Amino acid sequence: MPAKILVADDDAMLQRLISNTLKLEQHEVIVATNGPQALEMARTENPDLVILDVMMPGLNGFDVCEALRKDPATTTLPVIMLSGLGQVQEKIMGLKAGADEYLTKPIDPRELLTRVEMLLVRHKILRQSAAVKAGRVYSVIGAKGGVGATTLAVNLTAHMATMGKDVILLEFRPDYGTVAVQLNLRPELSLATLRELEPVAITEQVVTRLFQPTSFKARVLCGPQKAAEFGPFTAGHAGALLARLTALADFVIVDLPPAADVATEAILKSSDQIIVVLEPEISCVAAAAQRTAQIMSYSNTLETHLVCVNRQGAMMLSVREIESRLGRVLTSVIPPATDVMGVAVQYGAPIVILQPTHVFAEHIQELTGLMQRTKAPVA
Ligand SMILES: Nc1ncnc2c1ncn2[C@@H]1O[C@H](COP(=O)(O)OP(=O)(O)OP(=O)(O)O)[C@@H](O)[C@H]1O
Ligand SMILES: [Mg+2]
Repeated sequence: MPAKILVADDDAMLQRLISNTLKLEQHEVIVATNGPQALEMARTENPDLVILDVMMPGLNGFDVCEALRKDPATTTLPVIMLSGLGQVQEKIMGLKAGADEYLTKPIDPRELLTRVEMLLVRHKILRQSAAVKAGRVYSVIGAKGGVGATTLAVNLTAHMATMGKDVILLEFRPDYGTVAVQLNLRPELSLATLRELEPVAITEQVVTRLFQPTSFKARVLCGPQKAAEFGPFTAGHAGALLARLTALADFVIVDLPPAADVATEAILKSSDQIIVVLEPEISCVAAAAQRTAQIMSYSNTLETHLVCVNRQGAMMLSVREIESRLGRVLTSVIPPATDVMGVAVQYGAPIVILQPTHVFAEHIQELTGLMQRTKAPVA
């Protein structure tokens, strides 16, 4: 499978060896001799694969790889990292930075070619299946922790599923996921399993094994359940997982943690719509304003909804005060559901299913309709 391959290495001899090896297999080779140039060429030359040396002037290979993973345009670009050190620690750093493969010097040309071919094939399969279905991604993120983001994501998913939509709920967080408790699920495998894999190994089969079925016909992928499973994901993992899920469903609802890690950012950048959840309280409103500004900095066409969840009943700030602090209109103000929340968790059923005529459920139904019909209101 001839491809365009970017080779980034400041060692002229090694660069020649790699280039000649690749050209033997009819690959087109473009060359960068330092980190910044590699990054620039990866973005402008549209290569199919990048081979990055760890030690390079300017930016090292880890930095280049991390920057590629953060950019939605290159987040799933296959990367092979080269290092002369051969240390386990180096390899782990490379994989954490989002590299798909890691080769230690001296480079064996046959091994290099095999890895390149394997990666190109896997990437092609990934892209093809993503083209089969292009599910829309709705992300839900709390301005702060504990504001009701997961409850909202679960109910949104359940309502869409009952409306006949093909929907997957992805609880994408590095630490304890609460979706399993809310839905009374006992996942044997959680998202944490994916951390053990390189992003290209996150295949449709792997992802499918993590699905938990629900009574309302949505498929659910639960976050980590045990302390031993906690830990960060790379942007490469996030990109690969989302590519798989959007190929498997028309809608992917992502429950995100209120964090600023690279994986969360990668999901936000790949979203079609984002709900920022806040409480009617000064510090939370301030946090929501900052989160919204951050999202807008990715792209000002990203549809962002601000949804206030009023868990307490009495609002510490009025809707007008909140909107004036945000400089934005709230898409929805979700009312308290304290009376049914306990029962819902006890039955493992979202409120929209358990009590579809509850005022909370009505607001979720309205919000779901709005998200599928209109653009987010801007003040
Ligand atoms: N509308 C509501 N009325 C009353 N209680 C609510 C409402 N929405 C959520 N809650 C309760 O608030 C608590 C936090 O909710 P939830 O877990 O959904 O928040 P979160 O933002 O996802 O939190 P975390 O940051 O821990 O992930 C839960 O006990 C939930 O039952
Ligand atoms: Mg949550």
